[in-house]
This record gives sequence, C-alpha cells and structure tokens, in this order.
Amino acid sequence: MGYRPHAWHVQEKSETRSTKMNDILTIINLSYVVAAALFIIGLKLLSHPDTARKGNFVSALGMLVAVLVTLLDQQIISYHYIVLGFVIGGAIGAWKARTIEMTAMPEMVSLFNGFGGLASLVLGWATFTGMDLPTLQTESIFVFVTLLFTILVGGITFSGSVVAWGKLSGKIKAKAFIFKGLRELSVLHLVAIAVVGYLFVTAPSTSLWLYFAIALALSFGLWATISIGGADMPVVIALLNSYSGIAASAAGLATGNTILVVTGLLVGASGLILTSVMCKAMNRSLINVLLSGFAKPVAAGEKIEGEIKVLSAQDAFYVLEAAQAVLVVPGYGMAVAQAQHAVRELQSLLEENGATVDYAIHAVAGRMPGHMNVLLAEADVPYDQLYEMEDVNPRMENYDVVIVIGANDVVNPAAKEMKGSPIYGMPVIEAYRAKTVFVLKRSADAGFAGVDNPLFFKDNTRMVLGDAKDTINSIVREFAEA
Ligand code: TAP
Repeated sequence: MGYRPHAWHVQEKSETRSTKMNDILTIINLSYVVAAALFIIGLKLLSHPDTARKGNFVSALGMLVAVLVTLLDQQIISYHYIVLGFVIGGAIGAWKARTIEMTAMPEMVSLFNGFGGLASLVLGWATFTGMDLPTLQTESIFVFVTLLFTILVGGITFSGSVVAWGKLSGKIKAKAFIFKGLRELSVLHLVAIAVVGYLFVTAPSTSLWLYFAIALALSFGLWATISIGGADMPVVIALLNSYSGIAASAAGLATGNTILVVTGLLVGASGLILTSVMCKAMNRSLINVLLSGFAKPVAAGEKIEGEIKVLSAQDAFYVLEAAQAVLVVPGYGMAVAQAQHAVRELQSLLEENGATVDYAIHAVAGRMPGHMNVLLAEADVPYDQLYEMEDVNPRMENYDVVIVIGANDVVNPAAKEMKGSPIYGMPVIEAYRAKTVFVLKRSADAGFAGVDNPLFFKDNTRMVLGDAKDTINSIVREFAEA
C-alpha cells in the first residue's frame, strides 16, 4: 500500500462525498471513540488486582475494535499479509502467554515496550518510503517532523528495551556499563541526531538521512540504557514504556490515524506517571537517572568487613516461636523460589502462636511494579497487613524479628551509610534497626544492583542460607512438630 493522504485531509473532502460515504465516516469515527473509551475503562480496571483481568480483556477488545476500524478506514487493498500477521503474531502471543514463567514477566514487558517502539519505527519508515516524489516535495513540514520524531523515539525505545530485557533476564550485567569516552560519545550522538534530523526535514526527497536517523536512534538507545545501573532500572523501564506510547502517538500524527494518537497518548501519560512514582521511590530525579552515565564514576565505596553469622532453620524456629512482632520483607528471591504460599502458611502459624505479622513492601522490590503485591495476593495474604516502607521504618525497633525473604537491594543499608555506593540516597527498608534480622537467601552475593550488602554483617543479622521456599517449609515443619 502506498502513502495515502491523512484521515483529516479525507475528512475535509467529505462534503463532496456521497451520503453513504459520510455515514461510513461517521461510523468509523464513532468506533474510534468506542475504542478509546474501552482503553480508558480498561486502564481504570487494571489499577486494582480484583478487576485487572477484566481490565485486560476490555483493553484487548478496544484494540480489536481499533484494528478492525483502522483497516476499514485506511481501505487496505490486500488483507493477505494482515491475516497472516494476525495468525502468526496471535499464535506466538498465545503460546508465550501460556508458557511464560511468572519470574520472566518483567523481561517480557520490556520486550513488549521494545516491539511497540519497533512497530512505530517501521510504520514511520514505511510511510516515508510509500511517498512518491511529488508528495515528498509538497507534503507539509509537520508530517516530516512527526515522521522523524516517530523514528527517533521508536528506535531509542527498541534498542533501549532490548538492553533492559538483557539486564532483567541476566543476559547482560545489570551494573552500569561505563567506559572512558562515554560522555563524549553521547554528546556526539545528540549533536549528530540534531544535524541529521534537520537535514531529513529540510531535504526529505532523499532517504539517506532517514537511514542515518534510524541508525543513530538505535545506537543512542543502546548507550543511554547500558550506562544506567541496575538499581535505577525501574525508572528506565517505566520511561521506555512511556516512550513506546509517545512514538505510537507521533506515528498516529504522521499517518493521520486518530486512534493511534489517542492510544499512544494514554500509554505515554500512564508511563510518565509510573516514571514519576518510580523516581520518588528511588529518591532520584529523572535527570539524575538519565544522566548517570554522563556523571563522573562514583568512588568504589568503603570495603565491607565483618563476619557472617549463619543460622539453621531449626534455630530460626526457636527465635520465631518466642517472637511477638514479626515483619516480613519479601524481594525478588521470593518470586524466584515461589515461596509466597509457604510464607502465608508461616504467617498463620506465627499468628496462632500469638505474634503479629506485618509485611513491608518496597516500591521497587522484585522486577516490576506491584510484583510482591501480586504474589502475596495470590497466596491470600490480607491486603491490610501490607505496609509501605514509610509506615514500617519509624516503628522498626518494635519488631522482634524481621524476616527478609529473597530481598537484597531494598534492605541494603549501604544506601544510607556508604557515600560512594551507587545506591547511596535510595530509600530502603531499615531492617537492620529491628531486634533480630533473618536473611533468607542462598548466598551472601549482591542483589540486582551489584552492590554488596552490609546488612549481612550486622551483629543482629543471621543468614539462613538456602532456597527461600525450602527454608520456610523447614521452619513450618518445626512449628508443626512442636
Ligand atoms: P534483589 O536485590 O534483586 O535481590 C534478590 C535476592 O534474591 C538475590 O540477592 C538472591 O540472592 C536472592 N534469591 C534469588 N533466588 C532465590 C531463592 N530461590 N531463594 C532465596 N533467595 C533467592 O531484589 P530486591 O531486594 O527485591 O530488589 C529489587 C532490585 O531490582 C532493585 O535493585 C530494583 O531497583 C531492581 N528492579 C526493580 C524493578 C521493579 S519495577 N520492581 C524493575 C527493574 C529492576 P542469592 O543468589 O544469594 O540467593
């Protein structure tokens, strides 16, 4: 299909069309409104675990309406490739949705963002290459600016999301990859993007600048993301999510597709809100995160010295049996071990034994927003027993035992104590201030941010080494046999 004038250009000419055509146009526009309304309702429903499934379905329905109406609106000449794409893409999507491990969901979401960016990039490129010479010479500058924007943001989103996927899946080290000359390379990149962008918009009759813009966008996304440290990845992922929406919206403007503009703006706006929530959770400004690769490398930080005190599950049981107030701090390791049901069982036993059990949820615990909440809800942990970091930190001294289950970065006191640390300044759950801390993990290795954890060496900390689920099941058995 070649380049066609925009829908709003078509609308302008609608007066000259037959009444039938006008009716079709009205139906198309109304359907776009219905699709947009379904997206908004879907987003609202997605904001609570109880209604999230319904929200997903309503949003998917909105997407189906949007796709079908767009096909009608754009008077596609051949449906063969579209049907083929539907079948192949749908089959891969259904297979992945069925087989994906819960722990691999965050990297999957990153890939979704990336493919959103790639789709916008390809759409921008195809729209440009579909224009014939007279169109290229007469089309308004607005169209070329939006096309350029689509390609740049789409390309950055794609390569940035691929790096985020690599970091989340452990295929690339999560630590910031900073090398000599990175700052200069990034500045050079930005200047080159500005120059090539200007040349493309002012001389669009050659496609050379477009290909340069694509290459620069892809490489910029790569460097910009690889130079950001693991602890800041929640902000980056939320931002990439927002970029994928902004790119789609720009593609909608360039191709005159109203629903693409609306959908893109919804994704872009919700991604920006999430980015701001994540920045707050990390006590970082967005500029601070984005420019971390430009900043001078931080000093290595003090060396952590001390002795790790290891405890058996049986000894942990004796301490827990006498505890009156227990706080559970779950992290990514709980998701890996799938220990949530065992945790719920332990909670019941502790409560039967007369203890109170609270949960402290850090906003970036796990690998995706709400990760811990979803797992604990799945195990029927009452929602009113979950507290945010700000609620538990002031009363930390009151807890007899804090059980840290597969959490590491979110309880790392280096964020408060070690000025040179890459996570310095990040708010953490101050488990070390409780009377006793049990850390349930398999080793004393660092967490996702790659930063050593002084908590493991504190006088009041005991490490209960092993898979979190096995450890908790052993403690549960001790309770049953007592
Ligand atoms: P992490 O710092 O990643 O630590 C998780 C710990 O779980 C690891 O140190 C690991 O230690 C342990 N573990 C893994 N498998 C285990 C098992 N089967 N049993 C017991 N322990 C196990 O987790 P966190 O404290 O939740 O922090 C999250 C990190 O991810 C932060 O740096 C955050 O910025 C980043 N992040 C978060 C998000 C969102 S939105 N939540 C997105 C991207 C990145 P062992 O190997 O020694 O067992």
